[in-house]
This record gives sequence, C-alpha cells and structure tokens, in this order.
Amino acid sequence: MTHWQQAKTAAAYQAFCNDYGRYASTSEALVTAALSAVVPSAGRLRCLDWAAGTGVTSVALASELSRRGWASVSEITAFEPSFAMAQHHPAAAHLRHAGVRWHLRTTLAPTHPFDVVVGNSMWWLLSDPAYALRSLAPHLSPDCVLAWSTPAAYCGEAPSPGEVDLAVCLNTSREMVGLPMVPAVAPSIDASSGSDALNGPSADVDTPVWAGPLDPKATLERAGWQVRSQIDFHRDCTAAEWLAHTLLPPVRPPWLRGLPSADEQALVADVQQRISALPAHRQTWRLTVARRRS
Ligand SMILES: C[S@@+](CC[C@H](N)C(=O)[O-])C[C@H]1O[C@@H](n2cnc3c(N)ncnc32)[C@H](O)[C@@H]1O
Repeated sequence: MTHWQQAKTAAAYQAFCNDYGRYASTSEALVTAALSAVVPSAGRLRCLDWAAGTGVTSVALASELSRRGWASVSEITAFEPSFAMAQHHPAAAHLRHAGVRWHLRTTLAPTHPFDVVVGNSMWWLLSDPAYALRSLAPHLSPDCVLAWSTPAAYCGEAPSPGEVDLAVCLNTSREMVGLPMVPAVAPSIDASSGSDALNGPSADVDTPVWAGPLDPKATLERAGWQVRSQIDFHRDCTAAEWLAHTLLPPVRPPWLRGLPSADEQALVADVQQRISALPAHRQTWRLTVARRRS
C-alpha cells in the first residue's frame, strides 16, 4: 500500500487543508489560469480534476466555473485513485451548491472527452508522467487544455530569505541533538508514487521518483503538448504552515532524517518554538498551461 492509500495520510492531508491555504490558493490560481485559456464550445465544458485528493481543486474549479457563468454547461470529473483520499472529497455539498454537474471516480473509464484537465500539486508523483499523459490521451478532446502547478523550489528556484531563516532554525535544533546540517532546499524530491493504471509499469513499488529539479515545460513538450504559458504565482506562507507541510506523511522531511523516531517529537517541538517568531515568507508556484499539439 502506498502512502497516499493510507487513511492516516488522508486524514492528515485533510486536517492540513482545513488549517492552511497551500492547496486551496494554488488550486484557485491554477483553475483561473486553465479556464482563461478555454472558451466553452458546442455548449459544454468537460473538466477533469486529475489526482483530486480530498477535493480542494474540484471546489476551486466549481467556484471559478460558477463565477464565469459557465456552471450550467460544465461538468467536473474528480479522478482520485486512492480511496482513502477520495473518501474526504466534499463533492456532494460544495459542487452541488456551485451548480456544476460532477462525478467522483477512482478509475478513469472511457467517457466523453475532457476539454480541460487541471492537476494541482501532483504530476511529479507519477513515476512516468509522459506515460501517464499518453494514457490520458484517449480521454481528451483534440484541443484540450491542461494546467499543472509545481512549487518553484522544486524547479530549482533559490529559497527566499524567509526560507533561509527557517533552515537556520531547523539546523540550530538539529545541532542541539548532535545531527549534521541539512541544506535549505532538498536537492531531490523524495516522493513515493501512488499506483494505478496511469502510472506505468513500475507503479506498485514505493520508489523515489525524481532526483534533481523538475521541469514541467520540458516534460509536457516531450509528451506532445505545446506549452502556452508559464505563470509564477506568489503566496505568503507562515512559518507554522511551512513546518506543518513538511510534516505531512507522504514525504519524510529531510530535516528529520538521521533522527530516531522516538526523538522526533522533541525536535519538532523545539523547531516549533524557534520558528514561532518568524514572519511569513513568499512562496512561488509555477503554473504551466499547455494545449495538445495537433
Ligand atoms: C498533494 S495531493 C494533491 C491533491 C489535490 N489536487 C489538491 O490540490 O489538494 C496528490 C494526490 O495525487 C494522488 N496520486 C498519486 N499518484 C497518482 C497517480 N498515479 N494518478 C493519479 N493520482 C495520483 C494522491 O493520491 C493524492 O491524492
């Protein structure tokens, strides 16, 4: 079972989303970027929320469709392969309220082709994104628009001064328990992938997928997509949110590595205390919008 399929991961993710705006705000920016690149044609707009998780992006999509007056011609399919995550999807209440037709799926069956695909904070979890994009192709309309979000730090952007301050706090706490320093930004993305038909042949293995910076533009172009725009979306992140995010279960934070798990709580409490005085810092997410190459 992968991390994402575990109830404890889903519960922690849901609790994090209730407390902090990381995924809601990036979702809002992402769906705005995606919908700005389409015009509902033939009286309908079929949208796919790819890796819908606990529904944060679906809700943002429904609100934006509603705001544009497109709700009655739109349909959202929220595709999330983990039952544990999907169980938290608030589709019923929120999406009905927005007036958009919707479906929640844990597999992607052949259906009407999608005109828009949004994937918030997900594509680097696929063990082979090009394979996943090719597998998705039969489900897409010829001029489908796809929008992905990626933390700019994962693309190799240098940490902001605020993040450097956070790293100093972490390292001070590590030093106190005799652990070596960790870099301000992890040199690789140590993610464990989910497993489903879109993930490629090695999907069942919980393996680190990426080493080095991510390149969403090159990844999409290699898979036959034409990148239309890359937008940098900035948001303020409090130190408490930053810390809570690093503690989400799917990725063991680099700054806890080398520490016996019995000592984790004490180190986390020490870091929490040190960072409480730090101001919010600016985070950047790269939003990549692409269209299928015909
Ligand atoms: C960081 S969460 C993002 C969820 C949601 N888009 C949001 O913004 O809150 C990543 C999601 O990707 C899903 N996932 C992992 N591997 C996947 C795969 N191969 N195909 C589709 N979704 C996958 C996980 O189950 C998880 O729900």
